Amino acid sequence: MNTTDTTDTTSTTARGAALREGFIRTYGSAPEGIWRAPGRVNLMGEHTDYNLGFVLPFAIDKNALVAVRRRTANEASPRLLEFASTYGGTTGPLPVTGIELDALAPGNVPGWAAYPAAVAYVLGQLPGVQLSGFELLVDSDVPVGSGLSSSHAIEVGTIVALNDLFGLELDATAMARLTQRAENGFVGAPTGIMDQSASLMSRAEHALFLDCRSLASHTVPLPLAAQDTAVLVIDTRVEHSHVDGGYAARRASCEQAAVALGVESLREITEVALLDRLEPELRRRARHIVTENQRVLDTVKALEASDLREVGRLLRASHVSMRDDYEISCPELDLAVQASLAAGAIGARMTGGGFGGSAIALIAVERIPAASASIRRAFAQAGYAEPSIFTVNAAEGAGRA
Ligand code: GLA
Repeated sequence: MNTTDTTDTTSTTARGAALREGFIRTYGSAPEGIWRAPGRVNLMGEHTDYNLGFVLPFAIDKNALVAVRRRTANEASPRLLEFASTYGGTTGPLPVTGIELDALAPGNVPGWAAYPAAVAYVLGQLPGVQLSGFELLVDSDVPVGSGLSSSHAIEVGTIVALNDLFGLELDATAMARLTQRAENGFVGAPTGIMDQSASLMSRAEHALFLDCRSLASHTVPLPLAAQDTAVLVIDTRVEHSHVDGGYAARRASCEQAAVALGVESLREITEVALLDRLEPELRRRARHIVTENQRVLDTVKALEASDLREVGRLLRASHVSMRDDYEISCPELDLAVQASLAAGAIGARMTGGGFGGSAIALIAVERIPAASASIRRAFAQAGYAEPSIFTVNAAEGAGRA
C-alpha cells in the first residue's frame, strides 16, 4: 500500500476549499490561512509518556483543518474570540461560541471549543506575547472519541495557526509542551505529551520515536509498503474520555509506585525484578510501564531490521500487558484484537489511552477485505455495535494546509 496518499491530499484540498467558503458564510470575510494538524495512531508505548518513558506513534492521514482570521484594532470587539466547527454538519449557519480573550478561565468554555480556547489561554499567559481576538473555524475528519487524538489535532491546528499569525516563533517542542499545558490546565485532562508531539513532529512514511523525558526525537522508517502490509484501525465506537477517572487513576498508581521505589519516574526502572517489593496491583501497573518501554526500544530495532513478524509479536505482547497488567482494555477492544489475529493479522493491540476507542492491526494488504468482514461478524455475534474499520497511512506532521 502506498503511504503517499493522494486521496488524502485531494480530500484535504477539497475540505480546505469548503472550509474557506464556510468561514466567509459564518464570519463575513475570508480567513488569513488554513492550517492542518493530523490525528495519530500509537504503534507502541502506551501510558509511558507521563512516566517520562518512550513512545512510538505516527501521524495519520486524517486531520483537523483550522481556518483563522485575526481581528484588527479598529474592529468593534478587537479582543473577541469566536469558535465554530463543522461537527454538526455544514448546511445552514454554523453555531459560533464567543468569549473575550481576557475572560478565558479554565472550565468556562464548554464543548469542543475548550480546545482552541485552551491554546489561546496558555499563549496569552506567555511573557511578551500579545494576542488579539480572532475568528476560527474547524473541520476535522479524525473520528471523535476514537482514541485517535481528535482533540489534540484541534489544539495543534490552533497553535500552529496562532504561532504563524502572531509571529511567535515557537518550535515544535515548545508547541508540544504548551498544548499539553492547555490540555492539563484548561481542559482538565491529565494527559501526557505524546499526542501533540506526534501531530507536530511526524514525517510521512515514518514513525516518531520520542523520549518523553528529554523530548529528543527521531523518525523511524516504516517498511510497510515494501512488504505489502498496512495498519488497520478498528474503531470499536466505545467512546472514551481522559477527563474521567480511569486515566487519572492509572497515572496516580504510577506516581505512587515511583515514590515507593524511590525514583522520580518509572522510566528509571529497567528491571522487572525491582518491582517485587510493590503490592500486587501496583506491581502489575508498574510492570506494564517497565516492559512497555522496553517494547518501544525493541520495536524500533525490529523496524530498522524490517522485521514485521517481530513487530507483530511485540504488538501482541503489548496488548496482553495492557489487558492484564494495566487493565485499560475493554471487551470490545479485546475482541477487535482477537478477531484480527484470527483473521491473519501479524499483530494487533489497542492504541491510545484505552477504556474504549480503537485497536490497530498490522496486516497483509490482501487480507484486509476478508479480515474486515470477519471482525464485523465477530462484533455482530457478540452483540456489539458495528465497528468502523479503515487503514491509515503515516502522514506528515502539522503545518500550513
Ligand atoms: C492518551 C493521552 C496520551 C497518552 C495515551 C496513552 O492518548 O493523551 O498522553 O498517555 O493516552 O499512551
